[in-house]
Amino acid sequence: ADIISTVEFNYSGDLLATGDKGGRVVIFQREQENKSRPHSRGEYNVYSTFQSHEPEFDYLKSLEIEEKINKIRWLPQQNAAHFLLSTNDKTIKLWKISERDKRAEGYNLKDEDGRLRDPFRITALRVPILKPMDLMVEASPRRIFANAHTYHINSISVNSDHETYLSADDLRINLWHLEITDRSFNIVDIKPANMEELTEVITAAEFHPLQCNVLVYSSSKGTVRLCDMRSSALCDRHSKFFEEPEDPSSRSFFSEIISSISDVKFSHSGRYMMTRDYLSVKVWDLNMETRPVETLQVHEYLRGKLCSLYENDCIFDKFECCWNGADSAIMTGSYNNFFRMFDRNTQRDVTLEASRENSKPRASLKPRKVCTGGKRKKDEISVDSLDFNKKILHTAWHPVENIIAVAATNNLYIFQDKVN
Ligand SMILES: *[C@@H]1O[C@H](CO)[C@@H](O)[C@H](O)[C@H]1NC(C)=O
Ligand SMILES: *[C@@H]1O[C@H](CO)[C@@H](O)[C@H](O)[C@H]1NC(C)=O
Repeated sequence: ADIISTVEFNYSGDLLATGDKGGRVVIFQREQENKSRPHSRGEYNVYSTFQSHEPEFDYLKSLEIEEKINKIRWLPQQNAAHFLLSTNDKTIKLWKISERDKRAEGYNLKDEDGRLRDPFRITALRVPILKPMDLMVEASPRRIFANAHTYHINSISVNSDHETYLSADDLRINLWHLEITDRSFNIVDIKPANMEELTEVITAAEFHPLQCNVLVYSSSKGTVRLCDMRSSALCDRHSKFFEEPEDPSSRSFFSEIISSISDVKFSHSGRYMMTRDYLSVKVWDLNMETRPVETLQVHEYLRGKLCSLYENDCIFDKFECCWNGADSAIMTGSYNNFFRMFDRNTQRDVTLEASRENSKPRASLKPRKVCTGGKRKKDEISVDSLDFNKKILHTAWHPVENIIAVAATNNLYIFQDKVN
């Protein structure tokens, strides 16, 4: 139940939210820096924990609806409270997280423990006063957006207009207004009239960070469609179609499975987007649909092991990917609790490991190497001894600083670069 299923920083990076398989949301807050210890930076401590979703049962279809949180998205902060959207397979909820450090005392009609006072015994008028109390962080559900998805929700994305958001399932994308829960607009529908003709599903969707009319969605066939809501309300016809022609020489039984896109993310600038498939990350220029501008190999050494990865179902793992704040670096996960970082300027890449050993204060991450055939050097690990049960599917990068959050099964690791 405590397997982490999503990680997300808020827009300034001072809050970090995680969702887990048990339907819980945990929010971490970065502590203020301590002036008397200039070399230590603010740590993230638990700020609030709440149960966002409960298991449900769909009696009509005789199906269990898992409580697992598939995605969390923050809304930009507008007042003292924080708002976030969380979703499981079917239902999206808008949560308000607010602080309380004062309590009113001295009501006229009720006494301190909330019981109504006998009206005949109220003889004088009191002015209630606010008394300080221990800080309390409360999470309350403000809106529930339900009954709009027949299939499993894989993505939610808040629009840059900050008033609407999208939710995508395997075959449809809906557009919601944040204030309106009883209806949504279906903007993409790829469900064929005859389900036997189904060849492709939607795997991820996201709004453009700056243009509120533009969104993209990726598919299980390794393609991305860009839609412009200005050209038509129903975006069944895409405006752009990103696809890299397949190399016939490397075709195999697994080609289609490994080309399925598990995540798509716009760069902060809005100029590029990246897609993650099973073995690689591709960076696309929005102005060039025919091929990616960069292809980064995540764990090419697994190409020879696809057969066993198919047998143990790992080949269907959905790895996410993320940009750093300046769009100059990319991070994505792998197996054996390894994760990969790519520097787009220097073309250098590194494999790092999230483990208890490495997460001691002041310890620094040592690059790891996977040995592919031939002689194994000291400090290298062979492909055959990788642990495929330890996988890093979810990672997040602080929006401005070099702080990263890496979810390794039920552990959350936060790494930051050294001060000075
Ligand atoms: C700052 O660090 C000093 C030295 O470790 C400690 O005594 C002090 O309580 C800390 N202050 C805060 C506000 O955490
Ligand atoms: C993110 O959270 C921090 C910490 O509470 C808050 O100060 C900041 O305003 C939030 N940023 C945004 C843009 O929501």
